[in-house]
Amino acid sequence: GADVSKLLSSTGLVTYDPGFANTASCSSEITYIDGDAGILRYRGYPIDQLAEHSTFLETSYLLIHGELPTTDQLASFENNIRRHTLLHEDLKNFFDGFPSDAHPMPVLSSAVSALSTFYQDSLDPFSQHDVELSTYRLLAKLPTIAAYAYKKSVGQPFLYPDNSLGLVENFLRMTFGFPAEPYEVDPTLAKALDRLFILHADHEQNCSTSTVRLVGSSQANLFASVSAGINALFGPLHGGANQSVLEMLEGIRAAGGDVGEFVTKVKNKEAGVKLMGFGHRVYKNYDPRAAIVKKSADEVLEALGKRDDLLDIAIELEQHALADDYFVERKLYPNVDFYTGLIYRAMGFPTRMFTVLFAIGRLPGWIAQWNEMINDKSTRIGRPRQLYIGAGERDYVEVEKR
Ligand code: ACO
Repeated sequence: GADVSKLLSSTGLVTYDPGFANTASCSSEITYIDGDAGILRYRGYPIDQLAEHSTFLETSYLLIHGELPTTDQLASFENNIRRHTLLHEDLKNFFDGFPSDAHPMPVLSSAVSALSTFYQDSLDPFSQHDVELSTYRLLAKLPTIAAYAYKKSVGQPFLYPDNSLGLVENFLRMTFGFPAEPYEVDPTLAKALDRLFILHADHEQNCSTSTVRLVGSSQANLFASVSAGINALFGPLHGGANQSVLEMLEGIRAAGGDVGEFVTKVKNKEAGVKLMGFGHRVYKNYDPRAAIVKKSADEVLEALGKRDDLLDIAIELEQHALADDYFVERKLYPNVDFYTGLIYRAMGFPTRMFTVLFAIGRLPGWIAQWNEMINDKSTRIGRPRQLYIGAGERDYVEVEKR
């Protein structure tokens, strides 16, 4: 009800832009998105080429260092990460403090926050040595933390990392393996997960990345900044959407599988029902990641022999929505989260781990963006302005007179 134009003129020159839809908070050389054309590039390389030919760690190197690595650079990068996968023994106690039914996302962010206490020798945001070391530690330890969060939630013993394995293989083994039992990593599964991590690796100034930059702009260390990013990712409108999509599909199935009925509910905005996994602040044509994931979902489900009736519901739902004026007019298309859950499910991950997988994938992007922020001479502490619409000055009233 406030007269925004009046407020603006009384505050001096302040732009009012809820959700920062039109406000650039930084300049960046990392990720390019053209939302109308459905283009996504990391450091200039198209996402489909990276998904097809690169690996998650090579893409991580690209995002963080700006160029694709040479063979030696990649080997050294991978080797450094391999050497840091173990968690401090005392950090393991941390997991016992949480209830066994804890959601793994806050467990993840708490454990990452705790890295600042266990690794105090790599906290200086302006020391190249410290930032490099905390980068290796984060990339190496996040999958271990994620696997421990999972093991805790299912009441199974933790497995130490096996550093003869690559990052994704190691993560799968720590998640699904048992101590003293051999675990054969399924290469189809490992490749598919690696590709999903590439697709999630960066997405310019999204909510969690902006959070990482904002926290980092106060010169908080990398662990603290990333922990904040994980919490931002947890929300259902951001990374949490992959969990919500699956719950939505299960809900439709439980209600008899009538996709049309569900779409009508969404259009009528019944009790805030949204078509989860649809819509995007920037993509107004299609999300190029969704196209790759959809193709991958079909292939992976086939390869793992896990045909899923929820995939049929998802496909029907997508077709239904894309033919409906409500979605067409609002330019709502499937985003990356629409099909990823079906792949994660086929891989054996419980629904509550989906957003954790997103976090592992997004980590190199957060690190790259934090680095860019800290090294940018024009960075100032993030401090948005506001339009005050509260009460005018009034006198304090003693409690007995209220
Ligand atoms: N289902 C139904 N209607 C929708 C949806 C949806 N998924 N998304 C947007 N709309 C409608 C809004 O209700 C609004 O309609 P109105 O003009 O009649 O009020 C219109 O489309 C514009 O939507 P906004 O909310 O203004 O779009 P915004 O850019 O603020 O939000 C967001 C983007 C959060 C992604 C939104 O589309 C959404 O909530 N989607 C579902 C959650 C989701 O999938 N999130 C994952 C995003 S991708 C990622 O984080 C990896």
